[in-house]
Amino acid sequence: MKKLLLTTILLGVIFYSCNSGSSWQSYSKDKAIEQKVDSVLALMTLDEKIAQTTQFTSNGEIITGPASKSDVAKYLREGTIGSVFNTVTVKNNKTIQDAAMQNSRLKIPVLIGFDVIHGFSTIFPMPLAEACSWDLELMRKTARIAAEEASSVGIHWTFAPMVDIARDARWGRVMEGSGEDACLGSLIAKARIKGFQGDDWQNLKENNTILACAKHFVAYGAAEAGRDYNVADISERTLYETYLPPFKAAKDAGVATYMAAFNEIAGIPCTGNKFLLTDLLHHDWQFGGFVVSDHTAVKELIAHGVAKGEKESVALAINSGIDMDMADGLYIGNLKKAVEDGLVSEKTIDNSVRRILEMKFLLGLFDDPYKYLDEEREKSTLMKPEFLEIAKEAVRKSVVLLKNDNSYFPIDKNKAQTVALIGPMIKNRNSLNGEWAGRGRRNESVSLFDGLVEKYKDSEVKFVYAAGCDLTTDSKAGFAQALSVARQADIVLVAMGEDFNLSGEAASRTDIKLPGVQQELLKEIKKYKKIGLVLFNGRPLDLSWEAANVDAIIEAWYPGTMAGHGVADIIAGDCNPSAKLAISFPRNIGQVPIYYNHKNTGRPVDPANPKADYRSFYLDADNSPLYPFGYGLSYTSFTISNIKLDKNSLSKGNKITITANISNIGNFDGEEIAQLYIRDITASVTRPVKELKGFKKVSLKQGETKQITFVISDKDLAFYDVNMKYITEPGSFKLWVAASAADETNEADFTLK
Ligand code: NOJ
Repeated sequence: MKKLLLTTILLGVIFYSCNSGSSWQSYSKDKAIEQKVDSVLALMTLDEKIAQTTQFTSNGEIITGPASKSDVAKYLREGTIGSVFNTVTVKNNKTIQDAAMQNSRLKIPVLIGFDVIHGFSTIFPMPLAEACSWDLELMRKTARIAAEEASSVGIHWTFAPMVDIARDARWGRVMEGSGEDACLGSLIAKARIKGFQGDDWQNLKENNTILACAKHFVAYGAAEAGRDYNVADISERTLYETYLPPFKAAKDAGVATYMAAFNEIAGIPCTGNKFLLTDLLHHDWQFGGFVVSDHTAVKELIAHGVAKGEKESVALAINSGIDMDMADGLYIGNLKKAVEDGLVSEKTIDNSVRRILEMKFLLGLFDDPYKYLDEEREKSTLMKPEFLEIAKEAVRKSVVLLKNDNSYFPIDKNKAQTVALIGPMIKNRNSLNGEWAGRGRRNESVSLFDGLVEKYKDSEVKFVYAAGCDLTTDSKAGFAQALSVARQADIVLVAMGEDFNLSGEAASRTDIKLPGVQQELLKEIKKYKKIGLVLFNGRPLDLSWEAANVDAIIEAWYPGTMAGHGVADIIAGDCNPSAKLAISFPRNIGQVPIYYNHKNTGRPVDPANPKADYRSFYLDADNSPLYPFGYGLSYTSFTISNIKLDKNSLSKGNKITITANISNIGNFDGEEIAQLYIRDITASVTRPVKELKGFKKVSLKQGETKQITFVISDKDLAFYDVNMKYITEPGSFKLWVAASAADETNEADFTLK
């Protein structure tokens, strides 16, 4: 039974000294592996054990955080440390493994990690973009390919998926996750873990499977004011209802590792939170894998103000449940002293080492430390043509059509016309991969320009081009040329966005409009021509002006290697857009955090009279987002109708079957994502105005109608009561089968007995 969070986390801090942490319960539950782990452990000195709990960045090929102050080269040469990250070639990873085999006493293979976030060499759309496809099989496939590529250079472990729920567009890391919803986020977490770890996830025997890591545990997305690394001051209820579910789904999918988050929750930094890292993960959830800190986060316990020095911070971290210390070298420098001073027991270190060694056994590294190191495989695996095809498919499925007045898109290939291509993202390659783009080569990503030229090469369409401005500066030097190009053309297609450095880690913004003078350029062009706008960016932007003034908007996000080809398919109508937003787009920065499953309040706005006095609203903007969660257009039109429930009352252990018809009433074949939302009208605690409970992605030919079915049981209606017990309560419910979180056209009522 879960204890009350507050009491337990406080106890976690007060009694950190010499706390022996959790006992070891293996990940595989395989007695033979457990014996092997113990037999290696029995040979190890305390120094060797501590080295296994240490991970260093190679300080070389790729930098993803502050460089280590330790003499990393010396440790790498000695070959005793447990893990290294940021080396991305067979050649360099072999050097690391050679050191362990040749220079260390016990020859324990090194675990090589890397941030394989949305592809390794072949870069797929950024994770939030892929989430907008709502296509779980696609996301499993792209994670699988990423694992195949990464493993071919000797990488055994990715620090992904990031499963943080994100409701604040200021936070630069919204791009790395699956958006604002715990239900969708949990399903995506499972799909990605299955992709990385393969089907045989408990054995990890194949040399193309890699360990996944659910991060950042937990509530990192709740960073106050959207400022990265900031505190998360959330209630226990919000933690359990919103932020924990994707992490629990990760456990259920067999995730091998977790990464603790940088942030504190209610005064306790996650890196020193025994309740989260041990009681919840190992005891309640029965997780048997290991937990790594985030980059230098053990040391940061001093800056947080909960450890007075390095020795105290390592004691707090390992006693709380951080098995491996990333990048700061604090365990290797201080753990021994902490043991000698009685702050940490050797048993605690033993259990951390066991968890780490088990993964090395499961990966087969003790049988063959060079199993993943094969230069021929590296050459033949990276960027295979079939991987690029899937990357293109992923772009086509991730692009969201936000607006399309008078069918601006698609741009007809058979019509003789001049199209002006204007804007800093037309020819840009550098930003297309977005942040966390692995070993992807930015200059090889397909620009929108190249994609369009290729797509329209045999057509009647003629292109003229001008950049007009750049992505970030205030220079208007290119405006005149852009306007002259626009005037020559029949229609104008503008591509704009954010430089990739404006999102990702340590990239929060207080202004989420298009940066620089991009909007001003749009205003100038608009005086002469209608505009179709294609956006490449990492977060929901404030598009209020654009939505009111341009004719059409395609949200292409950061699409990765095959950007230009995938987006050109959409622009030309060779692919009908089907993606729907996994995160709300605010009307302006003042609305964030904004999310569809908010509470009603005691004074909700009256929809018939939205500015009625003394209600919960803004004087200067609507409450609703500009574009809601679940929203996205198609070149065709769909209707949802004929919603039916097989019964209107549900009892425990029973099910309700809901059916509805979806019809394609437009002029293109297409795909619709029908979403099931449920509202608990009255309960013992307040409940969200609606919550996603399922969805169906349906492909429909022009004129076709299909029936879709959802089945729900009382379990889908459970929530945490006043005592934080997960229960169901009898009462009335409303449900909708909808085209977005804002669509309430098809509703039905039922009761739970
Ligand atoms: C810090 C980031 O927060 C984390 O997501 C990443 O995995 C590590 N750096 C390693 O690069």
